[in-house]
Amino acid sequence: MSFIVAVDGPAGSGKGTVTKKIAQKLDFINLDTGATYRCLALEVLRKGIDLNNEEKIIELANNIDIKIDSTKEGDIVYLNGEDVTKKIRQENVTKIVSQVSAIIPVRTKMVELQRNLSKGKKVIVEGRDIGTVVFPNANLKIYLDASSEVRAKRRQKQNEENGITSNYEEVLKQIIQRDNNDKNKKVGALKKADDAVLIDTSEMTIEEVVDTIEKLILTRQENEK
Ligand code: DC
Repeated sequence: MSFIVAVDGPAGSGKGTVTKKIAQKLDFINLDTGATYRCLALEVLRKGIDLNNEEKIIELANNIDIKIDSTKEGDIVYLNGEDVTKKIRQENVTKIVSQVSAIIPVRTKMVELQRNLSKGKKVIVEGRDIGTVVFPNANLKIYLDASSEVRAKRRQKQNEENGITSNYEEVLKQIIQRDNNDKNKKVGALKKADDAVLIDTSEMTIEEVVDTIEKLILTRQENEK
């Protein structure tokens, strides 16, 4: 039976952490749609394609094979058969992914892929345009938000845990820059769907956010029986 939960929100709002936990608890599949754009960005870097060469990037988008295997431990991402789960998180990919994802035919291709990966499943799909574009008829839509300061602190802590030293002001600047890019895209911009439930996670623990969304899902499932 298909049941789609769309979770959108800016970088650092907690989407990734929270959706993974909920998927495990409720036996849903968790699809991180950012990974599809990250695969393309990685391939653009590997092929040395100029970021302004949209034609080449579109051609590449139409000719790469992205597979996502959602497991209990998280998504395993394959690019042309190679496991790139870790490589797509590298800083050089993060830097260019927003620009790559702003190319409209690239989005058309990725949205089609994301729909196919979710078809007929119980799935929590997280991204920027899930409730607005990818699944406008999702069973439940959530928009997670948090202040840019809180999100920068979370990102810095995450960096520390991964052994990366970073400067708070610099991280904050990057978060604000990425928000601007994501919110001002011509297509697929980051935006709360009118019928999405807004959850501001600034003052919430991960467990509190997980509990809140879990209750919303269970209530919606009950109501749709
Ligand atoms: O969630 P993330 O940081 O892995 O996303 C990487 C980039 O991909 C982000 O800058 C915005 C873009 N993205 C998008 O445009 N649409 C989505 N549904 C998911 C991500």
